[in-house]
Amino acid sequence: MASTTAPVVLASNRGPVSFTVGDDGALTPRRGGGGLVSGLSAIGTGQRSIWVCAALSDGDRAAARQGLTEPDVRMLDIDAGTFARAYNGIANSTLWFVHHLLYDTPTKPVFGGQFRREWASYEAYNRAFAQALAESAEPGAAVLVQDYHLSLTPLLLRELRPDVRIGHFSHTPWAPPDYYRLLPDDVARQVLTGILGADRAGFLTERWARAFADCCREVLGASVSDDLVVTHEGGATQLGVHGLGADADFLRDRAHQPDVDARLAALREAVGERRTIVRVDRTELSKNIVRGLQAYQHLLRTRSEWIDRVVHIAFAYPSRHDLPEYREYTAAVLRTAQEINDEFGTPSWQPVILHVNDDFPRSLAAYRLADVALVNPIRDGMNLVAKEVPVVSDAGVALVLSREAGAHAELGEDALTVNPYDVIQTADALHAALTMPEDERTSRTKRLAEASTALPPTAWFLQQLHALTGGQPQS
Ligand code: G6P
Repeated sequence: MASTTAPVVLASNRGPVSFTVGDDGALTPRRGGGGLVSGLSAIGTGQRSIWVCAALSDGDRAAARQGLTEPDVRMLDIDAGTFARAYNGIANSTLWFVHHLLYDTPTKPVFGGQFRREWASYEAYNRAFAQALAESAEPGAAVLVQDYHLSLTPLLLRELRPDVRIGHFSHTPWAPPDYYRLLPDDVARQVLTGILGADRAGFLTERWARAFADCCREVLGASVSDDLVVTHEGGATQLGVHGLGADADFLRDRAHQPDVDARLAALREAVGERRTIVRVDRTELSKNIVRGLQAYQHLLRTRSEWIDRVVHIAFAYPSRHDLPEYREYTAAVLRTAQEINDEFGTPSWQPVILHVNDDFPRSLAAYRLADVALVNPIRDGMNLVAKEVPVVSDAGVALVLSREAGAHAELGEDALTVNPYDVIQTADALHAALTMPEDERTSRTKRLAEASTALPPTAWFLQQLHALTGGQPQS
């Protein structure tokens, strides 16, 4: 059993803060983005913790060297080349693509010499984390390792520190075995056995946990019990499902601050009396932003009653621009939005309002205003936007939700479900959402908000921690 007094140790690639270097060389801290950081940042202050993360940029590396991070954050200054090969080459171009089924398989992936160099860097990067965690964890501490960047770390840490309790958590979907087997055989095995080095492996939905179990069975020949204990080569790992929810207290308070009110007023001014369809995403291939725009275009082409009566507010924030696929995707998003505005826009009506610069208060303002929220990912571990919008909505929102988002397991009953590839069905769902009777919308929003907040971040974190430490809350 784990120590109940040692600080819990968290490990993730992206930490709670990242630094940018200004023209004058000054370092400015910024809150990290994405579902993982949103979830973990909200952990109660009562919990003593150490957070080990990677320096992601030159600004981070400088901050790490100058000791500018908080004492409970340890940023690893990994050599920039090793980091880039591990993060861009393996984590974001290989494992992310596999779990989100993103490959255009006639041409990609190609696992050749470059891949092997990247894989060696990924191993080195995971070893650096395991080493830092081994140094940071007090005897018997609980160590919670996050996501696909760190799939080898649990086993490496287990070898260095057999005394600690290790949890791993996947914030992504998990690929089904036939797709997972695209990976070279040794790599496919190494990723699975790496995670099985943990005492517990957590997932956002049962669907992803079962896919992981299926991969263990088919790729490793592991055995899986009815209650999802995976046994392989003498070790046993309990799989768990912890559906991260939205942080209602934080969101409702933050969404009513003056900066959000000001942005809401500006959006209202731009929209006028028209209805709104809102989406907020990183510009991420798996988020399916282009098909979302095409669905909106189809709606305007086929249902003329919406001409000049609706605005699509699409926030597509920058993400992973080191990868050419993401730069091309961003260009496609901009192009499609422009095409719609050229086709339908008038001097007094801009059908798509697209913003590509990250602005959290503006996102919250759009959440409050939305008549319809469009969340149509190809595949998504959870998707917190689907959970956040109903919580802060001012007047009720109709949610159009992909059946491939993890959030669908909890919100499916009160959302309008779509196949993310089917733009005609998505357009029909947008129409149904825009015309949903007000009382139905209100009651659905209430139920969506309840389901979305069933396991807020602090409870989500403690649930995993208690499961890992044998039910003992840590002090
Ligand atoms: C997802 C992943 C996180 C990641 C985030 C942002 O939510 O599960 O691990 O941090 O995307 O992506 P980035 O590559 O910018 O860290």
